[in-house]
Amino acid sequence: MLERILPHMRCPRCGADRLEPTPAGLRCPACGAAYASREGILDMIGDDPGEVITPFQRLMQSPAIVSIYENSWRQLGYYLASSRSFAREMETVLEFGKGEKEGPALDLACGPGVFTRPLARRSKGFVVGLDLSFPMLRQAARRIRAEGIGNIQLIRASAFALPFSDAVFPHVNCCGALHLFDRPEKALAEIARVIGPGGGFTVQTTIRPGRSAGLAYILERFIRFGFFNEPELHRLLGSHGFAVERDERHRISYTFLARRLPPENMVAV
Ligand SMILES: C[S@@+](CC[C@H](N)C(=O)[O-])C[C@H]1O[C@@H](n2cnc3c(N)ncnc32)[C@H](O)[C@@H]1O
Ligand SMILES: [Zn+2]
Repeated sequence: MLERILPHMRCPRCGADRLEPTPAGLRCPACGAAYASREGILDMIGDDPGEVITPFQRLMQSPAIVSIYENSWRQLGYYLASSRSFAREMETVLEFGKGEKEGPALDLACGPGVFTRPLARRSKGFVVGLDLSFPMLRQAARRIRAEGIGNIQLIRASAFALPFSDAVFPHVNCCGALHLFDRPEKALAEIARVIGPGGGFTVQTTIRPGRSAGLAYILERFIRFGFFNEPELHRLLGSHGFAVERDERHRISYTFLARRLPPENMVAV
């Protein structure tokens, strides 16, 4: 799989557009950085994440949470946010992303591959599942092996420094994560860069509740589980060249397909 994605990669450390394969993984001839591949996961971070690890992200690294995430945590969390089943949400996201051009897809902040696997099963190309958490990716690798899916490459990297060249992906998916990023505007700039004009961006995120603002405050303040204000989110997307094409709101859960506009159609915001 690595050889298929390699021509589209760049060094997250120095930005050089060419990485070389080595017996252990990849190497950047420009800055000398070595990226090891272990357990089927290309690790582009190593021991130093160089990121703010929020309390919520730390939770996403804990083996106990990783083991219950897909079958319990995600299902219950989504139900509490939306009053509908996660299976229906999965259908919505897959339906929103259905019309995108064939080609590699990126599932950003893929966790244990909840969306990565269904995306890969229906794709003729390959899918990259990228996450910051090695334990989440290890769980994804296990499930991918168990389901015998052969067109997924897992990468440990940060949403703020995506290890890909410009305009590589016709489709980027990012569910359950945009509101968790410490710097969503930095992640959106990177997504806009790798998606390229005309590409589709499917997202499930959360909108700040009108009522029970006390609980939202506690979640935001203490574990940095964030919420967007809907008009602000639209402005933020617009400022990165995205226009929302389809959307659905279920209580505080917001799912949308945004299109990366060609530069001549971008509106200054
Ligand atoms: C709630 S999980 C979502 C997993 C999956 N996409 C889903 O919809 O169920 C959020 C994921 O975001 C990842 N994450 C948080 N910050 C990140 C960052 N800066 N770069 C990449 N992944 C990040 C976490 O490790 C975690 O696996
Ligand atoms: Zn480099």
